[in-house]
Amino acid sequence: MHVLSVSSLKGGVGKTTVALGLASAAFSQGLRTLVVDLDPQCDATTGLGAIGVFGETVADVLQNPRHSIVHRSIVTSTWTKLHPGTIDVMVGSPKAQVMDSPAPTIQEIWRLEMALAKVEREYDLVIIDTPPSINGLTRTAWVASDRVLIVTEPSLFSVVAADRTTLALEELRKGLTPRLETLGILINRFRPQSTEGEFRVNELREKFGDRILPDFVEERTVLQQAQGAGRPIHGWPGESAIEMAQVFDKILELVQKSFGQKSTGRIGKNSRKVLRLNRVLRGQTLDEVLKTEANEDAENSVESILGLEDDQN
Ligand SMILES: Nc1ncnc2c1ncn2[C@@H]1O[C@H](COP(=O)(O)OP(=O)(O)OP(=O)(O)O)[C@@H](O)[C@H]1O
Ligand SMILES: [Mg+2]
Repeated sequence: MHVLSVSSLKGGVGKTTVALGLASAAFSQGLRTLVVDLDPQCDATTGLGAIGVFGETVADVLQNPRHSIVHRSIVTSTWTKLHPGTIDVMVGSPKAQVMDSPAPTIQEIWRLEMALAKVEREYDLVIIDTPPSINGLTRTAWVASDRVLIVTEPSLFSVVAADRTTLALEELRKGLTPRLETLGILINRFRPQSTEGEFRVNELREKFGDRILPDFVEERTVLQQAQGAGRPIHGWPGESAIEMAQVFDKILELVQKSFGQKSTGRIGKNSRKVLRLNRVLRGQTLDEVLKTEANEDAENSVESILGLEDDQN
């Protein structure tokens, strides 16, 4: 199982559109796919046709990542009416909003990772749609992820936001999750005829070099139509939909290439270590932990913290 977060520090740039486009590509290729909707706006849940009242949601999972709760929070997307395969969603909830703390504790930050460890064998790919902030929910997503795809628009403020997102990621990566890597920055809503757009793309290229993905997602109404109808872009009629589907196929190919052959184990599997770590660091916020760990190799510092605990017991 590989886990990809789709993020940005700015709202409305197309995180959900990209997450759903990739989910559509994965489903059409036969990958067993789970979309985790961490955004309290629940747009990904709606886009996957999961509409209704759900007993348990991602908000319950983040409170208690128990096996039964994790399973009850996951429902089958109506996309499966189109063809056989696995496309599920861990349903979003407005209640997740209260967990989007600017100072998440170290315990909170591990919960999605622990939850995903419970379904490790059931999916090939997990795509996490995150809220547009760098608060608790996004960090929880990143800690559970192998890769982060940063989405940006070709506009001035998005360039600044992409910069802040890569910095925030780097900070977290150094401290806690060395397996986390930025996949790159994906330019969405590109308008081939716009000079402003082209100018910003060049600016992004100058700033981020080859971290800008070679494929762009153009501004196309067909994406809004499919999303609004709760259908995958691969199952939407018309030439424009076919072109968009091909773009997402290419981006998924990049995602898979970056995962390579080796499968990364969830740390949740090794839950004794996590539980001990949680005990040691209980009550501390992620920021405090990152500060103590600054510039140290995470593995070493975790080990040294655990070693310290052994001495005391
Ligand atoms: N490439 C595109 N072409 C046309 N419309 C797009 C494109 N990308 C996004 N949109 C539209 O823009 C709006 C915002 O996109 P989306 O919901 O994907 O952004 P988001 O980053 O997830 O937003 P939020 O931060 O609110 O979660 C949606 O109505 C979506 O359909
Ligand atoms: Mg969204």
